Amino acid sequence: MDINENAVFPEDYADRIKRVLITEREIKAALEAEGERISREFEGKPLLLVSVLKGAFIFLADLCREITIPCEIGFMAAQSYFGGTTSTGNVEIICDLKQDVSRYHVVIVEDIIDTGRTLKEIVRILNDRKPLSLKVVTLLDKPDRREVEFEPDRALFTIPDHFVIGYGLDCGELYRNLPYIAEYDETSI
Ligand code: IMP
Ligand code: MG
Repeated sequence: MDINENAVFPEDYADRIKRVLITEREIKAALEAEGERISREFEGKPLLLVSVLKGAFIFLADLCREITIPCEIGFMAAQSYFGGTTSTGNVEIICDLKQDVSRYHVVIVEDIIDTGRTLKEIVRILNDRKPLSLKVVTLLDKPDRREVEFEPDRALFTIPDHFVIGYGLDCGELYRNLPYIAEYDETSI
């Protein structure tokens, strides 16, 4: 029996990687600077890095290793319902943090801010729990796509309105393992 008989692997997988937007080296340099900045800002304070699954898992893993002060890690998973007939954003938390955030300075580590709806809701939910402070660091920001008013405290790269893949970001759950950020080719082949 062929063990790969159920594997889903699109024939145009490689052709869809249009061009590299941000290289591994550029990502690494930005993470070193950000890790140093976070280490300085939160020295001597209880720090909790919070990531919203799944897109930010690689960013979080690499960023936390550039941080030289003690910190804890927490994960949340959310389901967004923004389309259809509802005009207001709605986020359901399907996996919540174990930590009591009122004891921490919280830094949300996000992969990309697009419409801004998901993170605006997450920030509102976490602020209700009265953290000592709350900041948002995003790897990528696509400000042209914003549908709600939301600004991250830090965006490591600001990019134009392209759909991007790699370094944790997916298209149909694929491409998360690319070590760089690339533009996805959306044209029909
Ligand atoms: P929002 O539109 O700001 O709420 O973004 C929600 C989520 O959409 C992000 O956290 C990503 O997981 C996903 N997303 C937005 N833009 C892209 C993209 O260009 N590539 C891959 N995922 C994206
Ligand atoms: Mg995300």
